[in-house]
Amino acid sequence: MAEATGRSQSWPWWPLLPLYPYGRRQTLIRELIPAQVWSFEQLQGVLYVAVPIRMTVLRLRRGLLLYAPVAPTVEVRRALADLEQRFGPVQTIVLPTASGLEHKVAVPAMARAFPMATVWVTPRQWSFPMALPLSWLGFPARRTRVLFEQGVPHAEELDWKALGPLDLGLGTFLEVACLHRASASVLITDALVAIGREPPELFGADPTPLLFHARDRGDEPLQDGPENRRRGWQRLVLFASYLRPDRLAVPPWGEVLSQALAPGLRSLRCYFGLYPFRWLPGWQEEFQALLPTPSAPLRVAPVLERLVFPRCRSALLDWLRAMARDWEIGWVIPAHYEAPVAVRASQLADLADSLEVGTWAPDGGSWAYLAGIDRNLLRLGVVPRSPGVPPQC
Ligand SMILES: [Fe+2]
Repeated sequence: MAEATGRSQSWPWWPLLPLYPYGRRQTLIRELIPAQVWSFEQLQGVLYVAVPIRMTVLRLRRGLLLYAPVAPTVEVRRALADLEQRFGPVQTIVLPTASGLEHKVAVPAMARAFPMATVWVTPRQWSFPMALPLSWLGFPARRTRVLFEQGVPHAEELDWKALGPLDLGLGTFLEVACLHRASASVLITDALVAIGREPPELFGADPTPLLFHARDRGDEPLQDGPENRRRGWQRLVLFASYLRPDRLAVPPWGEVLSQALAPGLRSLRCYFGLYPFRWLPGWQEEFQALLPTPSAPLRVAPVLERLVFPRCRSALLDWLRAMARDWEIGWVIPAHYEAPVAVRASQLADLADSLEVGTWAPDGGSWAYLAGIDRNLLRLGVVPRSPGVPPQC
């Protein structure tokens, strides 16, 4: 794929959604299924809690489809131009989520990069704090279509199934899974993940977020090595999964400040030695509990499990069972964490069964912080007590 330089990784629209690594987006491009499916991964996160976000590229019979676009840097556009040379033009760009802002923000720029492509979006798109029409958000009005309401693209090669719409109070949760029959791959967005034990390859060029979180004190220098990268990744996953993990204490500010500005740490890269975290025994076990197993290769993303689905379990189960019943599945490709994940249709049915009989919307341990947010949103009336799932689209 194309050679990368600093300029080719520039993403000038980063202030629209100011997430790490801001104006420079390195992209890891991998062929997931030979000559059929490709992954374009970039890092995205708040401060140093950054996880990969993925665009999946499908080869169609006469061109390419982009599912969940990432920032179209020069590096990305060059790699797509290489694929277009081999397999035909980008025909279709899909925004597969109504609520995932991190997947929405790059769509207008990607649409401008491919002016002949049709843009398909899920129904019930929304913006906050003001409801704005898609064209005001930069979506090209004349070539933007709404999935299901205006049909579906490439029905002769692809199948589509919606999870939702689910009423979140502020807006709607809805994501759309896409089966690429030729490769038996199911593309999904946020609902299911396979978290890897090892740090993603994407951190190879700049492991700073991993090394930052690998430490136990603010005055420890950032030291690179495989063990520190792994340790930092595992802690970073706990932050991304639970926002405030159970096995994490916040030391008094006097202690935090006394460790700041140590030699070698007086830079923004190290946040000047400010490190308001103290990890407690048992955090590794908390991480282990998030990993896939041979019988359960995917899990529900924890933040969604506790903040989006607590009162919508049946919609999630119906979606999993419909995919298991109707589709021949070999791979699942989520928009975050590991991909491709080898999954059989029966394993999606098994996941639905285990969610049905297991504890749902737990409050203890690392779930406590998310559960507290959920309770507060309910108390304030921000989210509905009964989500009143609108009719299927
Ligand atoms: Fe996402």
